Amino acid sequence: MSFYRDYNDKLAFERWNTRERAAYETIKVTSISPALGAEVEGVDLRHELTSRQLDEIRRASAEYLVLVFRDQAITTADHKRFAHHFGELHRHFRAVRQAAEADPEVLSWKTTAGSRFTAGEAWHNDVSCEAAPISGSLLHVTRLPENGGGDTAFANMYLAYESLSDPLKQLLDGLTAVHSGQEGWTNGYGDEPDPGGKFASSEHPVVVRHPVTGRKFLFINSAFTSHIVQVTRSESDALLQLLYRHIERNLSFQVRVRWTPDALVFWDNWAVQHQAVWDYYPFERWGERVSVVGGHTPVAA
Ligand code: SIN
Repeated sequence: MSFYRDYNDKLAFERWNTRERAAYETIKVTSISPALGAEVEGVDLRHELTSRQLDEIRRASAEYLVLVFRDQAITTADHKRFAHHFGELHRHFRAVRQAAEADPEVLSWKTTAGSRFTAGEAWHNDVSCEAAPISGSLLHVTRLPENGGGDTAFANMYLAYESLSDPLKQLLDGLTAVHSGQEGWTNGYGDEPDPGGKFASSEHPVVVRHPVTGRKFLFINSAFTSHIVQVTRSESDALLQLLYRHIERNLSFQVRVRWTPDALVFWDNWAVQHQAVWDYYPFERWGERVSVVGGHTPVAA
């Protein structure tokens, strides 16, 4: 193995690190890693924000992809009200199956010493099997593990795409892949669809143009993508494994967010993959996620 950086890798980082970014006037935005992620200060999410603040948060989301709002002692109603500014609230099948008195627009979980798994412990985009996948997720970790673990890792899929070689980009640009709930939920966690029903399954381009930024990003993930359509199964397996390894091994595409009490993290669920880090067993970590759908279906670049 060579440790030299290849040409496209350098170009991808040069373009990303020197991109134009105007100053913010109503919020303070501090980058936490060159690839992605920023801390946002100057807002109190318990109250309605001004339209200028919301516009700047939308711009920060496009520029930094993962926004961390700390010290926000929000209620579930505040969480939902803030999320609603970015799209329609999504109903996850697990949230819909919660107790009748629970809110179907809030996906909540408690990872305890008795849990067999924790949600999202593989690189993924949330619910990419739907025709119009979740555009953004807003996670509030409501109980932190006592050992200080439970970070969430995020990876930038613009950089993952741009740093590939030109021949591989050309191949991937023309391909589509199936994302299936059966793959993610039945094979991943043992969940079954409602009796007589099926989990969603959708065919999406492998390289998608972002509806807000216009940039190309890689859109396959190890939780939901079952196969690439235009090639044989063994070619599909090899290509997907190559791409997953490319995403996993490049720490330069990634950031780990450390949770603090009352933090809320908002990520772009199209151009970012994430993974929950379960390093706190037997301690507990609880979370509540509200996700939004922007109404777009992924379009080939
Ligand atoms: C998820 O939304 O996939 C879970 C992320 C986390 O718990 O850190």
